[in-house]
Amino acid sequence: MRKTLIVIGAGLESIPVLQRANEMDLHVVAVDANPQAPGFACAHESVIGCVYTPEKSVAALTEWSQKGGKPQGVICAAVDAPGTAAAVADHFDLTAVSEETARLATDKKAMKDRFKKCGIPIPWYQEIFSAGELAQILAERRETLVIKPVDSRGARGVLRLVYGSSDMPDPAWAFECAQKESTTGRVMVEKCLDGPQISTEGFVVRGKAYCPGFSDRNYEFIDRFAPNIIENGGDLPSFLEHGEQRAIKELSGQAAIALGIENSMFKGDMVLHEGKAYVIEMAARLSGGYFCSHEIPWNTGVDFVGTAIKLALGETPDPEDMVPSFQKGVAQRYIFPKPGKVLAIEGVEEAKTMDGISMVEIRTAVGETISPATSHPARAGVVMARAETRGQAIKQVEAAVAAIKIITT
Ligand SMILES: Nc1ncnc2c1ncn2[C@@H]1O[C@H](COP(=O)(O)OP(=O)(O)OP(=O)(O)O)[C@@H](O)[C@H]1O
Ligand SMILES: [Mg+2]
Repeated sequence: MRKTLIVIGAGLESIPVLQRANEMDLHVVAVDANPQAPGFACAHESVIGCVYTPEKSVAALTEWSQKGGKPQGVICAAVDAPGTAAAVADHFDLTAVSEETARLATDKKAMKDRFKKCGIPIPWYQEIFSAGELAQILAERRETLVIKPVDSRGARGVLRLVYGSSDMPDPAWAFECAQKESTTGRVMVEKCLDGPQISTEGFVVRGKAYCPGFSDRNYEFIDRFAPNIIENGGDLPSFLEHGEQRAIKELSGQAAIALGIENSMFKGDMVLHEGKAYVIEMAARLSGGYFCSHEIPWNTGVDFVGTAIKLALGETPDPEDMVPSFQKGVAQRYIFPKPGKVLAIEGVEEAKTMDGISMVEIRTAVGETISPATSHPARAGVVMARAETRGQAIKQVEAAVAAIKIITT
């Protein structure tokens, strides 16, 4: 009999996960609060429920199951909602992370407390309760800090406070900016660790970690978007030395296990600071931004989403399926038009036909307004290139981005 998979999230970036589930001949049930969610077209059944409110998703799925539905697995697709996957798994007795792991993975302070307890290298951090406390910490520590909401996502309200710089934001403004993005009004600061930033993505299977996903993150616009920290895509394979990559992969697996992940996937924000690997954050879900669905398979041959779905169904993937079989070039860049009203979008068809270009996705339209880039979801489009080498892929993606013109007022 065909197995039934519940997919939490049916937005644009959820589509590759929904499609992979279809290819695996599963009966696919998608959950999203938006009745017009584009991913619903790739599901056999659509359930309306808020993915960020576990009780609402569970209630909507309970109603669905009362009409005869019976799931064998649950997975989040491009939504940071491990708590919902955990609650659904608990309700239907499926394999996913526990609700405690989901809590640790979505509360940046609780996560860092756990890492500290387990001896996982992390930046210095502290929860703060006022702008005055922020000003005091800056005066005492005299170093560059990152202020962030304890429980948000997509880099909303995450600001880099460069110690001694002339454009250091006012502490009151910075505190408020981070606080308003937190659902619980909680804010924390961390030491800003400089050095190459890396995204990792992998699996824990029966307590053993595999980390096939490894991408250098591109922060070329750190000054342009300051004090916000906005990533402009990434490059694979990494430029880091083999030993450095191994250390970062190993630490990613240890951090995932420290959060209690046992038979599921993880996604790490890592940094190599003064030659040593540190964890900035570890998520207990699949990545967004097409990392798991496109970049990792193109780079390594690993069917990341397919393997994650197998795990979600309670199956044990073959270890060989989680290990890269090659290292090909992949580069991803985002499009950041000047803020204003979109008057014209040009060069998209040309970009799509350029050498190596494997995806061009424009996320705006004429007449829409481009806001300043203060978070990751605000990016206006994404372009990806694949080539034999990393250098070639970078050249190709940059040429395609240059060919696309989003003209604003
Ligand atoms: N202490 C730090 N040192 C250096 N860089 C940091 C630090 N904290 C955050 N960053 C950078 O800012 C990015 C966003 O921070 P963080 O991951 O905490 O927020 P987020 O809202 O979860 O963002 P995302 O969803 O993009 O991961 C990180 O991925 C990292 O590149
Ligand atoms: Mg993060």
